[in-house]
Amino acid sequence: MKNLRRLNCLISRILLPVRRSEPRYCSSVTNSVTATNNFKTRLSSGPRFQDFTGEVTGDSDKHCYLSAELEMGNSRKVYFETYGCQMNVNDTEIAWSILQRKGYQRTANVNEADVILLVTCSIREKAEQTIWNRLQQIKAMKKKRLKSPIKIGILGCMAERLKTELLEREKLVDILAGPDAYRDLPRLLTVADGDHQACNVLLSLEETYADIMPVHRASYGHSAFVSIMRGCDNMCSYCIVPFTRGRERSRPISSILEEIRMLSDQGVKEVTLLGQNVNSYRDTSEEQFCDSGLTKLSRGFKTVYRTKQGGMRFSDLLDSVSCIDPNMRIRFMSPHPKDFPDEVLHLIAERSNICKHIHLPAQSGSSQILTRMRRGYTRETYLDLVDTVKKIIPDVSLSSDFISGFCGETEDDHQQTLSLIKEVGYNVGFLFAYSMRKKTHAYHRLQDDVPVEVKQRRLQECIIVFREEALRVNSALINSTQLVLVEGESKRSAKDLCGRTDGNLKVIFPKEDVALPAESTSAPINAGDYILVKILSSSSQSLRGRAISHSSLRGTVK
Ligand code: SAH
Ligand code: SF4
Ligand code: F3S
Repeated sequence: MKNLRRLNCLISRILLPVRRSEPRYCSSVTNSVTATNNFKTRLSSGPRFQDFTGEVTGDSDKHCYLSAELEMGNSRKVYFETYGCQMNVNDTEIAWSILQRKGYQRTANVNEADVILLVTCSIREKAEQTIWNRLQQIKAMKKKRLKSPIKIGILGCMAERLKTELLEREKLVDILAGPDAYRDLPRLLTVADGDHQACNVLLSLEETYADIMPVHRASYGHSAFVSIMRGCDNMCSYCIVPFTRGRERSRPISSILEEIRMLSDQGVKEVTLLGQNVNSYRDTSEEQFCDSGLTKLSRGFKTVYRTKQGGMRFSDLLDSVSCIDPNMRIRFMSPHPKDFPDEVLHLIAERSNICKHIHLPAQSGSSQILTRMRRGYTRETYLDLVDTVKKIIPDVSLSSDFISGFCGETEDDHQQTLSLIKEVGYNVGFLFAYSMRKKTHAYHRLQDDVPVEVKQRRLQECIIVFREEALRVNSALINSTQLVLVEGESKRSAKDLCGRTDGNLKVIFPKEDVALPAESTSAPINAGDYILVKILSSSSQSLRGRAISHSSLRGTVK
């Protein structure tokens, strides 16, 4: 496996940089002897083959054909703009950690940036369009800044998906780095300094950035994302993620625990474990695609790949993580319904610091559509899981993702989705109109045959039903007392505070001093405090209440 990664890296060294103007390492071939001689002279004074393979000696940050000084940032200011899912937020922290070590500085002001890096998303056409538009604005900035030229980089899923278009169409883009190539950023930026476009979008079978401590910069400093696995093997027929992020691989448990211990020492009160398939985490060996169709799992779920055996599983990880700090909330995102064995559900039920919120992305309520989506479950299998979850964790709050207007979706399929939303009763939902993505199974094999207006109408109907149900589920919390982790001032009013319940619902409540536990004195409320809040009213999206007292995570970790 290690050799494969080295081979990947080696290939990237040989393929790059991409020529923009005068080539630095190779010359166009002509038949003249002079040209050949020139070429030889250039080669003899340029890097040797061993220089490219220098990495094989071990230090993965070292590129022998570029001197260490050349790779230094020299206090140049980097501005990041992050789009897409939480994985991208965490990847930004990893990319920044790598550049910081090379002496770059970070700026929050795009106008003073020397390097602008967009961390991009390809999940739907709209997500990509937002980034194309932003790129036009940034290119205009670059054209104006002649004295201290700006370097523009496209990172993340679009870099992977649209490498050719980006490099050929967008001549002002200097670097492209796919999700597995962030270690290479300093080198890519150095190559870009020589006025070359530089690109590394190779996917790796084992990159987990396990040894890179991300520089956490959550919008509120008491919560942090910790990436535990990368990639996805599920190959849902509509989804681009397996193509942009590559094969599923898990980060070693020891490095995850080390990072969370460090976060606990820094006073972080909430950690969200991240992965595209977070609950299929397994710290071990390889798995292979199964030629003979779907692999059967427990509860009637199936996968298109052969499942891994042995090793530390998600329940083992969750168990260890929850023992680090009983006063630190643990969440995880985004799980797949196929990977919820009873031990995971019982663990969530038992541990007071594992939040009783489960994201169960359904995508559709129709078995026919689910089969076409290659989700590996039917409506019945999904509803059975919901029943089991509710039995084992009675006060659980559920959220989900749905896609309206997938290939071949009939009015009846759509009605089944509406009825599933009503039957389950989610607190929160993420609903999307289907957006066809090249490379996917659906693109090659299915017809995107639901007209745009119909997709939009069905989406609106799903949103309406979702809101009605969320309002019903949330109003059941009125008069209850919820333990809220305070995020800070409410966006709407500085007189109010905002925080989240264990179930991940937003709660707004007036800013006032409240009693400290077991003391008669009261104290102001700060971000990062646990507060008991009595819920007085609700909407489909949030709760309102009144603070009762300071508190901590109740119960002890068993
Ligand atoms: N790995 C996660 C989330 C992946 S992307 C999971 O499986 O739950 C987040 C959501 O985007 C998906 O759950 C799906 O609802 C939506 N999505 C993915 N591809 C899409 C597409 N082509 N069109 C519309 N929505 C899509
Ligand atoms: Fe995409 Fe499916 Fe993987 Fe989620 S599980 S990332 S929807 S392929
Ligand atoms: Fe988007 Fe890539 Fe995340 S496509 S949703 S940024 S994995």
